[in-house]
Amino acid sequence: MKVTAVDESPAALLALAAAAAQEAGRLLMDGLRSGPALVEAKTTRTDPVSDLDRASEALILERLLGERPDDAVMAEEGSDRKGTSAVRWVIDPLDGTVNFVYGIPVFAVSIAAEVEGKVVAGVVHDPNRSETFSATLGGGAFLNGEPISANDPVDLSVALVGTGFAYDAEVRRRQGSRLDELLASVRDIRRAGSAALDLCAVGAGRLDAYFERGTHHWDRAAGALVAREAGAVVGDLAGEEPTDRLVMAAAVSIAAPFRTLLASIGASW
Ligand code: IPD
Ligand code: CA
Ligand code: CA
Repeated sequence: MKVTAVDESPAALLALAAAAAQEAGRLLMDGLRSGPALVEAKTTRTDPVSDLDRASEALILERLLGERPDDAVMAEEGSDRKGTSAVRWVIDPLDGTVNFVYGIPVFAVSIAAEVEGKVVAGVVHDPNRSETFSATLGGGAFLNGEPISANDPVDLSVALVGTGFAYDAEVRRRQGSRLDELLASVRDIRRAGSAALDLCAVGAGRLDAYFERGTHHWDRAAGALVAREAGAVVGDLAGEEPTDRLVMAAAVSIAAPFRTLLASIGASW
């Protein structure tokens, strides 16, 4: 389908985002095959950015703005721009950079489209598994075009919980110090290394819940829509929209006790 600059329907934005994310995924896989990426430290010594993060972002921008030059952009590697349309793209060109630079096949391209500040479409593409998660507001969530749904019912004591840790060592220390009580209260935890894929995993029933302190809007914008449209509860500890301080996603039946557990261990200090 040809997307025109006036078509701001979630379906049209999703189609454009999916094509761009899949093309960026091919670029990342080609880059991975042709040898080690050039890596620099970003916010801390353990926060890497590679030449492929930047190449992926450039490609995505070219594709999105090539079709829709008036849109605004928020992108992790610095391509932010104001627009004159109602649409803003929120882009993580490579979510899971640490995995990528170590050759661990768990990373994704994440693109969300906001209209008037509300996320209406989201795509998280995993090029290693050729899996594209997608959702539109009110339109459900899909994996490679097939509907997905979060697990339900779930018992918190046997829930598999995803999480992630910050690039800042002090924050990581505090995050780690809160895990003992959590580990004793659920089945186990997983740290896959891609917040976008963690959120989609809740949507696809591959995790029962996920939480993390210190994500950014670009990490979670698309994945949060996928999880929510798949029936999961997504928010912060007060039941409001997720913030950089805390994002949680959980199967409906454990959302309230999971939120209480996170509050009790001080997951969002
Ligand atoms: C990171 C990943 C990781 C999460 C971090 C994110 P990046 O994104 O999503 O799983 O724990 O909070 O910053 O740096 O690989 O794009
Ligand atoms: Ca990220
Ligand atoms: Ca990234």
